[in-house]
Amino acid sequence: MNQTTFNLDLAPLTSALQDTPLAAWAEALPQTLALRLAPDSHGDLPAWLAAIDALPHIRARQIDLNAPCIRIGAPDEINADTREQIEAALRQLHPWRKGPFDVFGIHIDTEWRSDWKWDRIVRHLAPLAGRRVLDVGSGNGYFALRMIGAGAALVVAIDPMRLFLMQFEALRRFHDTGRACVLPLGIEDFPERSETFDTVFSMGVLYHRRSPLDHLYQLREALRPGGELVLETLVIPGGTGQVLVPEGRYARMRNVWFIPTVAELERWLARCGLRDIRCVDESPTTLEEQRSTDWMQFESLARSLDPADPTRTVEGYPAPRRAVLIARRP
Ligand SMILES: C[S@@+](CC[C@H](N)C(=O)[O-])C[C@H]1O[C@@H](n2cnc3c(N)ncnc32)[C@H](O)[C@@H]1O
Repeated sequence: MNQTTFNLDLAPLTSALQDTPLAAWAEALPQTLALRLAPDSHGDLPAWLAAIDALPHIRARQIDLNAPCIRIGAPDEINADTREQIEAALRQLHPWRKGPFDVFGIHIDTEWRSDWKWDRIVRHLAPLAGRRVLDVGSGNGYFALRMIGAGAALVVAIDPMRLFLMQFEALRRFHDTGRACVLPLGIEDFPERSETFDTVFSMGVLYHRRSPLDHLYQLREALRPGGELVLETLVIPGGTGQVLVPEGRYARMRNVWFIPTVAELERWLARCGLRDIRCVDESPTTLEEQRSTDWMQFESLARSLDPADPTRTVEGYPAPRRAVLIARRP
């Protein structure tokens, strides 16, 4: 790799998918990604690539992908100069939203305590050991690494934001299982009927979709029969038939389209042919779980809530509350 080109090592993925309906898609990925990662495709790409280039080529010895704060390397594996070099490069990849990570003792305190979300979800899942997983809207791959930590055989993580791929690749410099990849793609770039995955995750994505039922349908079609869907999304309190469609922004986000109740969401899932639907968690998002940090210095949830009434967003809607639903493709 140099500062103007970026080639993902797709060989492990292509090999893992060779006997699946995704084989042809995987074969064509180099061309797809060459366009997506062309040097002039994003103004910040050269700076991000330079940051990755500035990382030393070392392999971490002590790894823990099962820890709430994913650990890649211990402090005593490197000297102070190398630590400074790594930290400076990783900070070039600001903002770090999903985590936390500990990289050779450098604590990446991310905007989200993603480990809290994972804790709410993981105990309800069919065990991930040996499973082929798709994570739609993966962010920087924090959850993908936790899935590998839980024994998944393969995790295909997709997210159109190239910065998140860069963060994943930066960490991959020090540790690579060969079993997880982050691809700079949206769900719309994914084949319509792959029926390949044992578990499909969509966390924090549904409310960004203008056609939420199409999204659910696409997720279903990525599952093999009997596979498990894990859906995490914003909800409002209330019963069947109730959906919030914000007039403009929701919690200062422009791209929020549909926020249903849990009961309505269950109906949508059933309508899309999913079965054994259960809501395993419903929690408000707290200011401890999502906040500005040294590694994510932009404004965060606190600025999106009404200072006089934090149960409301600044637009007057119910404050963010998220549910986790699990369902099975028959
Ligand atoms: C709120 S974040 C959630 C990230 C992570 N899954 C989590 O639960 O913390 C939504 C993510 O979905 C990604 N996203 C947006 N549109 C998408 C699409 N069409 N396909 C896949 N991912 C998308 C965004 O880039 C963003 O990283």
